[in-house]
Order: sequence, then C-alpha cells, then structure tokens
Amino acid sequence: MPISFDQENKEFHLYNSSLSYIIKVLCTGSVGQAYCGAPLAPYRFHPFLAAAASGDAFQPDKSTTRFEYPAFGTGDYRTPAFVLQLPDGSTVTEPVYHSHALYAGKPAIPGLPALYAERTGEADTLELTLSDAPSGLRIILYYTIFADLPAIARRSRFANEGNEPLFLRKAMSLSLDLPDSDWRMISVAGAWAREFQIIESPLVFGFHGVKSCKGNSGHQQNPFLLLKRPTAGDCSGEALGFSLLYSGNFTAAVEVDSCSSSRVQLGVNDETFSWKLEKGASFDTPEAVLAYSRNGLNHLSQVFHSLYQSRLVRGMWRDKERPVLLNNWEGTYFNFTERKLLDMAAVAKELGIELFVLDDGWFGRRDSDTSSLGDWFADTRKLPSGIAGLAEKITALGLQFGLWIEPEMISKKSRLFEQHPDWAVGAPGRSRTEQRHQYVLDMSRREIVDYIFTVIAKVIASAPISYIKWDMNRSITEPFSLGLAPDRQGEFFHRYMLGVYNLYERLTKAFPHILFESCASGGGRFDPGMLAFAPQAWLSDNTDAVERLRIQSGASLVYPQSSWGSHVSAVPNHQTGRKIALSFRAMAAFFGALGFELDPTELSPEEKQQIMTYIAFYKAHRKTFQYGRFFRLASPDPAFYTAWQVSSEEESVAGFYKLLAQPNRPPVRLRLAGLDPELLYSVSLWEEGGFEANDKTYNCGLRGGDELMYAGLLLDTTYVTKRGDFFGELFIIKKTGAQ
Ligand code: GLA
Repeated sequence: MPISFDQENKEFHLYNSSLSYIIKVLCTGSVGQAYCGAPLAPYRFHPFLAAAASGDAFQPDKSTTRFEYPAFGTGDYRTPAFVLQLPDGSTVTEPVYHSHALYAGKPAIPGLPALYAERTGEADTLELTLSDAPSGLRIILYYTIFADLPAIARRSRFANEGNEPLFLRKAMSLSLDLPDSDWRMISVAGAWAREFQIIESPLVFGFHGVKSCKGNSGHQQNPFLLLKRPTAGDCSGEALGFSLLYSGNFTAAVEVDSCSSSRVQLGVNDETFSWKLEKGASFDTPEAVLAYSRNGLNHLSQVFHSLYQSRLVRGMWRDKERPVLLNNWEGTYFNFTERKLLDMAAVAKELGIELFVLDDGWFGRRDSDTSSLGDWFADTRKLPSGIAGLAEKITALGLQFGLWIEPEMISKKSRLFEQHPDWAVGAPGRSRTEQRHQYVLDMSRREIVDYIFTVIAKVIASAPISYIKWDMNRSITEPFSLGLAPDRQGEFFHRYMLGVYNLYERLTKAFPHILFESCASGGGRFDPGMLAFAPQAWLSDNTDAVERLRIQSGASLVYPQSSWGSHVSAVPNHQTGRKIALSFRAMAAFFGALGFELDPTELSPEEKQQIMTYIAFYKAHRKTFQYGRFFRLASPDPAFYTAWQVSSEEESVAGFYKLLAQPNRPPVRLRLAGLDPELLYSVSLWEEGGFEANDKTYNCGLRGGDELMYAGLLLDTTYVTKRGDFFGELFIIKKTGAQ
C-alpha cells in the first residue's frame, strides 16, 4: 500500500515511484506538512523534515510552522485553510489529530464531481480526522494517491458533532505549505474569445492567484495554478500543478510569507461563500488535484491529461473516438429552415462528417438572442416536422444528430418567464441585470431543476439524438435565492453548482449514449468539474486557427486534447477577419475533437475535395490526435512558430505552424519528444497540407528516435521565406523497429 503510517513518529508517508508526500502529527497535536516532492525512501521516517515543519519540535512557532490544514486565530498569521464561526460569534479554532483510516480505493463525494479508481491497487486513500473539542467540529482530510501517477487528490469534510449550529466562512479543498518560494507561477487568463492565455510571473512576497465570483469558473481565469522552478521548461525541471474540480466561484492562490515559504490554496471562493452547519450536518468541499513532475511541464500536463481523460470523464464516450461534427452556428446563426439544414447535412455527409449539430435558434420564437430561453419546444415555422422530424431526416442521411440547449437560462421574453418570473435569480427590491438579454434560473431550487430535467429529457427522448451541446451564456448577478433562509444566503452560489451537477447527473444517467459537450460562450466554464459530466467542451468562440494555437496551447497545460471542441470555420474568420489557408485551419483543428463550423453548401468543389481528404486523414489518425500523449514542442510566443506533437503506441504526429514569415531567419531545429532513442522511425510529411521541398528532403525517410529527439527535425531551411504567413506542416512518425 503506498501510504504508510509510522506510529511511533506519527508520520504519514504517501508515496509511489515518482512522488512523496509526508504529513506529521506535531507535538501540539496539530498536523504539519513535512514534505511534498520527488520520491523519498518509504521505509524510513523523516525527523528532520518534521522538525523543519514545526520550527522547533518542542516549542513550535505557529507563525512559521508548515501546517497541513491551517486554522485561524492562534498564531499562524498567514491565510487560513478554513474559518469557522461559533454560536458566540468567535472564529478561533484549533483542530488536532483525532484518528485516521487507511484503505484501498477512492470514495465518491456526494453531489460533486470527483476522480475515481477503477482497478484494484490503482489508488489508496488516507482519511485524517481532526477535532476541535470546544466547537464540536470534526474535519476529515481526504488524500488519495494514485499508484502509477505523481498525483494526489485532496478534499475536506466538515462535520458538526456539537449541539449548536456552526457557520463555515471558508473551507479550502487543498492547502499546501512549501518550504521555499523559488518558483514561478503560471496561470491562464483571458476573456471571451481570448481564453487560456498563459501568464507567467515570479513568486515574490505577498499574495498571487486567480479567483472567480461570477458563478461560473469564467473566461477570465481557470481553476488551476502551476508552480515551476525558474529553470524548468516544457521538457525538463521541477513543477507542481494544482487543479480544482469545480465549475463555480473559486480561489487558486499562493501566499509567500516573510520567511519565503509558500502557502498554496485551492477551493470555493470564500468571498462569496458561507455555510450553516446544523447539529449533525456535514459539508464536503470540492476536490483538488495536486500533480508533481521532475521532468518538465509536458510531463506535468500529461499527468493531468491521463487522470482527467480516464479517471474523471465517465461513461461510454470516455475511451471512444469522438465523431467529426458539423455545427451550423457560424454557417447560419439564427437564420435557418429545415430545408437549409438538410442541404447542409447532405453535403456534410459527402465530406465524411459523422454528426450534424443544430445550434441555437430551434425553439420558442428565437430569431435572435433576445427571447425564448426556457421554452424548449421546437419552432415549427423553421422546423415544420419538429426536432423529431428533422432528426429522423438527418439520421436517414447516415449522420448522427446533435442539439444545442441552454438549460440554466430564462429569457425575459419567454413563456416560462411569464409563468414563473420568480424562477430567475434576483435580489429582493432590486432590478435584475440582463446579460445577452437573459436571466439565470435559480438552480439552487430543487423544483426548478426538476422542471428543467423533465422538459429537456422530453426533448431528448422524442428524437434520435446522440449529442447535446449544453451552453451557459451569462454569469450570475444579484445572487439571492427565494429558496434559502436569510442565514443561508451565503450558500447560494455553491447550491447553484450542486443544482447544475444534479441536472447533469440525472440527464447523463437517463441518456447514457449521449455525448455531452459543455460550453459557456466558448471557454467560460471549461473546467474539470464539467468534464466529469461532459467529456468535451467548446474551447472558445474564437475559431481563428492562429488564435486557436495560443488557446489550445494554454488549455493543454491541464486539459486533454480529447476534451477540446476544435472547429474549422470559414474565411474571412468571423472573429478576426483573417484569411488563412484551409489546410492550416485544418492542421490546427486536428489536435482535438475535430469539427466544422461553416455552411458546407458554400464550399467550392476544390474546397470540398480538400475537406474530404482532410477528414479521411484525420480519421486514419484520430486515436492519436484525440488520445495520444500531447507535447508542446514550441510555444506560440514569440509569434514565429508553434509546434505540438501527439504520440500513441504506434505513431506520432507533429504539427509545425509557422506564423509570421520573416526573411533570412535561421532554420528551426524542432526536437521531438517521447520517442524511443533505440528505435528507428519512418518520417513522412502530410502531402495534402503543403510543405517546403527542403523540409521534405531533410526530414523524411528513416530516422533514429535519438536523432529526432536530440538533434530534431530541420525546418524552415530556405532562409528566404516565400510561403507567406501562416504556413503549416504535419509530420507523421511511425515506429519501424530497432536501429
Ligand atoms: C455561445 C456559444 C456558441 C453558440 C452561441 C449560440 O456563444 O459559445 O458556440 O452556441 O452561444 O447562441
């Protein structure tokens, strides 16, 4: 079992071949953090590390002690992991070690997304119970270590075992005290259509981090943080990653104190949270995942990818190749008829597309974004035979059929709002803020979730639907619920998320064959919480291929490419006006779950031919593109080129994207990754994509894995660029045998 407990020294050691995490019960009974990093021998205990955790083993200085789950008010002046308010108004607590349990496997969390274990022996769990006798509070800290991955899942449960109600004011999922601050912090920031921009900053004294108070995780930030040593890069060096399995208001932050130690915390944003714990009640925080690597950021990302791809995503789509889809949104927006959709679908079928998705505009009287959300019945002006009739006609063409919904929303102009104006979130006596002309349904109320489940289930059951795109196009304002007592209004945001997860749980259980794709105006809720229900997500409303290089690179830090909805759209691009060659647009979209978002009836015969060959190529390598190990080979900044690689057992594909042409630049040596240095590989260029003759001469043919990784491909060798901006090349690298 990769968790040991040394009774005499009161030391827990969670370990595997690539990670050690050591917790020590200090002489005061508080629980200290002794070590988190590269693996240490499991059969020894570590008195020196423990002493370092507590300052002095006999008289610990709380202001510098490294705590496992720091409390407030007794001498540790850094940010606490939790704050509890007692009935007398005080907020002082001092929980101490009470008991622990070690067991194989990993428990689920009621109502919340979580990683799971599937095989015997793949994960072990430590439950560490702390108690604060005066308040009657019990805190259970859960740690699950995965046998084959340098990763630990953490969360906390608060239980009121006293006689009076308690109020939780803060409850982090993870708190980790690191002994130094010699790190650089990476997070991803952005905005609508500009998600996942990588931001790197030094970790200096003070507070650093990201948070959301919008009710969704947001375009602006993501529930994720990465710390890397200053010299670490994609292919080497030490790094720690932290990711929160949550889709609502969150905090992911680091505090560096005057002794240069760093306290990392992830959890529900305490600025918009409180929770009343009645006698006998308990509260579970969302789960956070910590991953570690000594081998660079690519490896760290791959740890997250493999956990999220195969131990977070659930259901029949987890390991299945995802269909190539056509989404009509940029092709028609709200302006379509059944005839138009069928014409589009017929061409899509010819091109090799497998799934036709009808986006917004099919219900109520929705000719623009000003009305009808909540009225989930087909608009027979546009669709005379309804969703069922359309879906049957599409499936008769040999395509699958998918549908867009936005179930958490209500338009002011809708029948639903006429009937239930009180179902929209809003604070008493105040006007509601409209965003995109819509309000948010109060998903913290069970009767509203029940109603939405019933109407959406009816639509899905009425037709041969195999895919649902679940959108969420605005954030929450005027947070307040008519369903909550005044002393429970602080619970609203979290209860909203519990309602959304409950709806997802019921719909995914009722329709297990459906592939769900989540969306929030693009990547406004692209987070691990959603991935537990929807295996893929629409990464951004920005479909410009150059922009996508940056967005997909940022997303790849933590999210597997099987989860990225990645579409080829028309030119001039609708978001940037840029005109880029079809082959380049396809090469960027191949890395992910490929789709098209255009009107195929407007394609020229040449374009149709091109797309047909592109789709055939993608399908031939789909498993590698969607599920292969992903490597960032060159970053999108500075703006000269980006390069990625995906590798499965049999083959790798490397994409090289030259951005802005510049004459007389030295050639690029693109070093591949993850190959076997002892094997020979046959390297070929994807001919349909276009290529530089020199690039073909220098690189194609039989090459050693050592040569490809240590010397690299030799690219862009002409010295005088004549191919213009945005020129891409794809290399296919197949294993052949020993050198
Ligand atoms: C959001 C989505 C788009 C599209 C529109 C429809 O913006 O991100 O892909 O579905 O809504 O209104």
